[in-house]
Amino acid sequence: MTEKEGKKMKTKKVKLTPPQSSPLKRGGGKRLNAVIGYPLSHSRSPKLHNPVYELLKLNAVLSPISNPDVKALVAEIRSLPLHLTAVTMPHKQSIMPLLDSVDAAAKKVGAVNTVINKKGKLHGYNTDVAGIEYALRDTKLKDRNVLLVGAGGAANAVAYVIKQKKGNLLYLNRTEKHAEELQKRFGGIVLSFEDTTTPPRRLGTPPQLRRGGTGRLSPQGIDVIINATPVGMYPKIDDVPIPEELLDKHQAVFDLVYNPVDTKLLKLARKKGAKIISGLDMFAVQGLRQIELWTGKKIITKSLVEKVKNNLLKTL
Ligand SMILES: NC(=O)c1ccc[n+]([C@@H]2O[C@H](COP(=O)([O-])OP(=O)(O)OC[C@H]3O[C@@H](n4cnc5c(N)ncnc54)[C@H](OP(=O)(O)O)[C@@H]3O)[C@@H](O)[C@H]2O)c1
Repeated sequence: MTEKEGKKMKTKKVKLTPPQSSPLKRGGGKRLNAVIGYPLSHSRSPKLHNPVYELLKLNAVLSPISNPDVKALVAEIRSLPLHLTAVTMPHKQSIMPLLDSVDAAAKKVGAVNTVINKKGKLHGYNTDVAGIEYALRDTKLKDRNVLLVGAGGAANAVAYVIKQKKGNLLYLNRTEKHAEELQKRFGGIVLSFEDTTTPPRRLGTPPQLRRGGTGRLSPQGIDVIINATPVGMYPKIDDVPIPEELLDKHQAVFDLVYNPVDTKLLKLARKKGAKIISGLDMFAVQGLRQIELWTGKKIITKSLVEKVKNNLLKTL
C-alpha cells in the first residue's frame, strides 16, 4: 500500500449506504447487528451469528462493517443503531474509551470484543473470557503449570482466566518483553527461547528453553499448554509454536487457532496421548455469549455449542 493510499484509507468514512443486496440495506424489519474491524475478510462472525438468529427466531441480521476508523464506527453504532456489535482487530483496545461503560473483566483483560447498545448507551464486554472458560471447563487449572505461548490480545484473556482459576502461568513469546508485560499484570514466570531470532515455528528446530537461566524446562513440568499465537493457522498449517519435545501424555493442550480445527500442534499432542482442546469451542462460545448479553437470555448449552461448531466446520 502506498503512503497516499494509507492516508486515504485512514480518513475514509464508513459506507453509509451498503449495496442493495447487503442485509444491512435489506433490513426487512430485522434488527441490525454487525462485526466491525479492519480488514474483515477473515471474520467468521456472520457465519456464527446468523444461523443462531434463525434458530432462535431473533429476527436480526449480523453484517460486516470494515473501516480502519474506530470513531466513525462508534458513530455508526449509535446512529444506525446497531444492537450487538462484535469487535475485532484492530479496534479491541481503541474502542474502549469511546464507550459509555466497560465491564470489569474486559477492563482487566484490556480489550473489548462486544458492544451492546442498551437504549442508546454503549456497554463493552469481553466474551473471549467465557469462550476460554468453556474450552477449559474440564481441565484442572488450580496449582497447575500452564504454559501460555503468545502474548497478544488473546493471550491477555487467557492469562486473566488462568489467574482467576489460580493456575501457575509460564509465558513463552517470540518477543520476551511482551510476555513481561503480561507477567506484570497477571503474575507468573517468563520463559525464554534461547535463540529468539529463530522462533521455533517448525519441528526440527527446537529451541533450548531455560527457566530464569536455571536449566531446561521439562514436559513433566507443564500440565497445560495453550497456544495463543497464529502459528499453525492456514495457510502455514505445518508450523508448530513449540517443540514437540515439550508435549507429554499427562497434559491438556489447547490451541486457540481454529482454522484448521485440527492444527499440527493438536495432531502431535493427540499422538502423544495428551487431551486436546480445539479453538472452535472458544470461538463458538464467545459468539453465543455475545448473543446472551444482547438478548439477556441464557442460551449456551452443550448441544447448541455443538450445533454452532458443526455449522462453522462447514465454512472452514
Ligand atoms: N478461538 C478463538 O475464539 C480465538 C479468539 C481470539 C484469537 N484467536 C486466535 O489466537 C491467535 C492470536 O490472536 P491475537 O488476537 O492474540 O493476535 P495478536 O494480538 O496479534 O498476538 C499474536 C501473538 O502471537 C505471536 N506471534 C505472531 N506470529 C508469530 C510467529 N510467526 N511466531 C511466533 N510467535 C508469533 C506474537 O508475538 P510478538 O509478541 O512477538 O509479536 C503475539 O504474542 C490467532 O490465531 C487468532 O486467530 C482465536
